[in-house]
Amino acid sequence: QPPNSQTEESCVLKRADCRAKGGAPGFKVAILGAAGGIGQPLAMLMKMNPLVSVLHLYDVVNTPGVTADIGHMDTGAVVRGFLGQPQLENALTGMDLVIIPAGVPRKPGMTRDDLFNINAGIVRTLCEGIAKCCPNAIVNLISNPVNSTVPIAAEVFKKAGTYDPKRLLGVTMLDVVRANTFVAEVLGLHPKEVDVPVVGGHAGVTILPLLSQVKPPSSFTPEETENLTKRIQDGGTEVVQAKAGAGSATLSMAYAAVKFADACLRGLRGDAGVVECAFVASEVTELPFFATKVRLGRRGAEEVYQLGPLNEYERVGLERAKKELAESIQKGLLQQKDLQ
Ligand code: NAI
Repeated sequence: QPPNSQTEESCVLKRADCRAKGGAPGFKVAILGAAGGIGQPLAMLMKMNPLVSVLHLYDVVNTPGVTADIGHMDTGAVVRGFLGQPQLENALTGMDLVIIPAGVPRKPGMTRDDLFNINAGIVRTLCEGIAKCCPNAIVNLISNPVNSTVPIAAEVFKKAGTYDPKRLLGVTMLDVVRANTFVAEVLGLHPKEVDVPVVGGHAGVTILPLLSQVKPPSSFTPEETENLTKRIQDGGTEVVQAKAGAGSATLSMAYAAVKFADACLRGLRGDAGVVECAFVASEVTELPFFATKVRLGRRGAEEVYQLGPLNEYERVGLERAKKELAESIQKGLLQQKDLQ
């Protein structure tokens, strides 16, 4: 069946009817940048998510192929593809959650900030579309540098008069996923048993794992603390170097993005106690944006948690993180003003 066909529409209506009669709830989710290295596995995993009833895949290239491919999976979500700027508005209209992995990834030798100018423009255009077509959607922003693209998105939404800080979330979940994996290795535990809060931002020293707050409660030698902290901070570079020119983290990122998106959808459904780390508007420090644990609910990040007690190593790390983060946030805000 071609996308947007009558049959598909009636299928959606039947599912909506089923939901109205007490069936499983379903949310409408758009992925912008869906044909990319992250976008494709992310689309596949979202198609497998029972909370998703409609999945819109938007990119400037290759969405017909990705949509046909993903659309053959025998899971519930109806998949529609959208190609190029003229179809952006249709891709976004009516969405509950918009996930943005659009942009260029890091190549060896590039820092996340090198990506800044290209990705800033992409994020800006996409957020203008969101402000117009689905201003109440929750936005999960993956495009790097997250420390700067989130402030840019906030400015776009402010200008459009649609800004709700609770609904704009920078995705730092990959740092948490890595931290859980690396810490579990050291502790000899299954990663699912480990919970490491990672605060600050999403680049180099701004990524601050709070090893003193690991669950289950654990102690680390100074050497373990140093090694784990560095490995978590440099996790992205580890992958970029190993891929040697073939991109950055895509598969682990898609996994992390789906873990986070699923938490957002459970929050939207009204589940209690959904808590994850994200880079959000914050009053936890003097900076306007900061990553900490947040409680996800029907309106997005409904509660932003404090840092909790830090040890000396973490206090030093926090000061270093804040210094770099302040510059990245400022860069995002200035870029957005320049573009206006
Ligand atoms: P990729 O180059 O494989 O895919 C990016 C996709 O975005 C491409 O399909 C491209 O056509 C599309 N795109 C470009 N301009 C667009 C536009 N104006 N509208 C819609 N789509 C557009 O890159 P990859 O590896 O998927 O990475 C995507 C982004 O995610 C990069 O900025 C990367 O740095 C970032 N990233 C973020 C992480 C995080 O933890 N937040 C981790 C890893 C990557």
